[in-house]
Amino acid sequence: MPRILSGIQPSGQPHLGNFLGAMQRHVKNQDQNESFIFLANYHALTTIRDSQKLRDLTRELAIDYLAIGLDPNKITLFRQSDLPEHTELAWIFSCLTSLGLLERCHAWKDAMAKGKKDPSVGLFTYPVLMAADILIYKPNFVPVGKDQKQHVEVARDIAERFNYLYKETFPLPEPDITVEIETIIGTDGEKMSKSYNNTISLFGSDEQLEKEVLSIKTDSTPLEDSKNPKTCNVFKLYSYFANDDEISDLRDKYLTGGFGYGDAKKLLLKKLHTVLDPYREKRVEIAGKLDYVEEVLLDGARRARKVARKTLDEVRVKVGLQ
Ligand code: ADP
Ligand code: TRP
Repeated sequence: MPRILSGIQPSGQPHLGNFLGAMQRHVKNQDQNESFIFLANYHALTTIRDSQKLRDLTRELAIDYLAIGLDPNKITLFRQSDLPEHTELAWIFSCLTSLGLLERCHAWKDAMAKGKKDPSVGLFTYPVLMAADILIYKPNFVPVGKDQKQHVEVARDIAERFNYLYKETFPLPEPDITVEIETIIGTDGEKMSKSYNNTISLFGSDEQLEKEVLSIKTDSTPLEDSKNPKTCNVFKLYSYFANDDEISDLRDKYLTGGFGYGDAKKLLLKKLHTVLDPYREKRVEIAGKLDYVEEVLLDGARRARKVARKTLDEVRVKVGLQ
């Protein structure tokens, strides 16, 4: 079975973009792959400075994954910080990574362009830790959103450099970017993101979900006129969750006219409830079993360590630390 590895930062309440672009994909693959999915809390430390908040968000994200159907017998789910092996490998990698490679990374360049005040070294070397996260498991594929593609390429560059200096050690991982799920658009028309305050949350309250759906930006075509489904984000979001007949029905309603954006939003809200309510119910159940969640994470860490330790021991010998 191909091995896949992916991480997601516990940096806030997950939204439909995270769900469709990352979380659901990880879970859908669980029968066809040997998967390692981890909660990237070392990475989240670049932005979160409140210890209790980081602890809570990390646990909440584990609950979210279990609620959407991640089977811990099929996927090794773990907390990154339970595997300090990642950070040791990151240090070894940082000694053979050129400054120039990191300076070319978009995420860093964007932070600079936006005038980020007093950026930390951690933010700069973030891709080196990500390379260690990936390569330590020697995966075949790394499913990520388009925004992370360059970081996987950095991991490949680092692997090549290591292999050149110390002989073949790391197979080159392939980024796996789904083309069908392009960037999910938020309520304001920009990329849906925790940082833009434009999200539709996966596990918010009923009131929050309704408020978010009603706030989706639409154009000012009058109710009686025909509308363009292709340019409407309500239609787009609906189509990620509805079946072909339902999508075609809604398309007809748009084209015929006499159907307002308010009606479309009501339909979307109903659809989101139909699809997400079972996950939401499951989430309440799992949130009531925190000992179980902790057990899953510790067991995941034990399984991950078997692989990570082996790679790290191999590396320590190769570079002369052992
Ligand atoms: P955010 O921008 O909300 O902080 P993250 O950077 O934490 O999201 O992304 C976590 C995962 O979710 C990544 O794999 C990313 O590619 C995916 N993702 C985030 N936003 C979107 C979106 N709008 N559309 C598709 N995928 C997304
Ligand atoms: N940088 C990724 C993000 O912000 C999270 C991440 C950390 C990751 N390490 C990883 C993703 C390794 C894939 C593989 O979304």
